[in-house]
Amino acid sequence: MKRVDQALTDDWSLGGVRIPNRVVLAPLAGIGNWFVRLQAKRYGAGLVVSEMVSSFAVHYRNERTCRELLRIHPDEHPVSVQLFGHDPDVMASAAERVAAAGADLIDLNMGCPVPKVCKTGAGAALLADPKRAVALARAAAAGSGLPVTVKLRSGQRPGELTGVNVARRLADEGHVAGLCIHPRVASQRHAGTADYQLVRELVEELPVPVLVSGGLRTAQDARDAFEATGAAGVLLARGSLGNPWLFEQLLGRRSCEPERQEIVAEVDWVLDRAVEHLGEDRATRYLRKFYPWYVERLGCGPALRAALQTAPSLADVRALLRTCE
Ligand SMILES: Cc1cc2nc3c(=O)[nH]c(=O)nc-3n(C[C@H](O)[C@H](O)[C@H](O)COP(=O)(O)O)c2cc1C
Repeated sequence: MKRVDQALTDDWSLGGVRIPNRVVLAPLAGIGNWFVRLQAKRYGAGLVVSEMVSSFAVHYRNERTCRELLRIHPDEHPVSVQLFGHDPDVMASAAERVAAAGADLIDLNMGCPVPKVCKTGAGAALLADPKRAVALARAAAAGSGLPVTVKLRSGQRPGELTGVNVARRLADEGHVAGLCIHPRVASQRHAGTADYQLVRELVEELPVPVLVSGGLRTAQDARDAFEATGAAGVLLARGSLGNPWLFEQLLGRRSCEPERQEIVAEVDWVLDRAVEHLGEDRATRYLRKFYPWYVERLGCGPALRAALQTAPSLADVRALLRTCE
């Protein structure tokens, strides 16, 4: 759906859900829980998408999945929950549960390249199975009554454009409210250049809003991709890790980089939320992957990074952070 000349700060509608701007937090497995999404929201994200959640785990009411991955904070709306799976009946049931949990939209994962996911027929395997992809999208909408979007790759292997065919089918027969294209093939994982020209062609051809993901590390990268593709919105993924300020920069609300004190205060906020989410013990272990992102921003050396990652308690983490304020 070709965009009339619009800015990243303009509001828009995705399947009837009002989105206040065109800057979106991408789904990030193992990371995009409610507090990471809330953080993106505090810095201006117009829409936040959850990490991918197994439709089977939700359907079978896996206790931890439902309690932790379907947890939605009242201040993070509009929020989309991303599901993955290959069985339309299971997808419909999971989607119903996701709607009951309070999601505004459902996104379906058709791009995950991880063999464990693909070998079940889910994720990027669906790029080779357009009939099933359409059935899953319809089932998610029927089960939830919510608008459904799909995030997909351009293909599975170099030179393949299976994703383009699936995108067309999803827009024509799958009744999707929108699509997000990550224009790298699945075998590239997250490396290599993103093909924005391909996204532009889909934006012009398809009757639904098309968003772009891939290679948006800086505000300038995201602005350039938004212009080059004409996409309805941009998804920030790795560029946003430990860098919620990117949302503000992209929305023109901030031009400078954060001061050290601001970064340390932000890590404190993350620590508090993680304890609220997981309890002190699990939070201590869970947060270890977060520290390298912030240490890089703080400009501190590998010694601090190592110390944070091996700190036995969050009190130690806080004390270490104070040393570099
Ligand atoms: C750690 C990590 C986890 C990811 N998890 C998901 C996921 O759960 N669902 C999904 O559709 N994409 C996932 N992706 C892909 C991102 O949403 C995004 O499309 C990709 O990283 C390309 O954007 P970037 O180059 O700006 O990072 C993940 C990427 C990374 C790096």
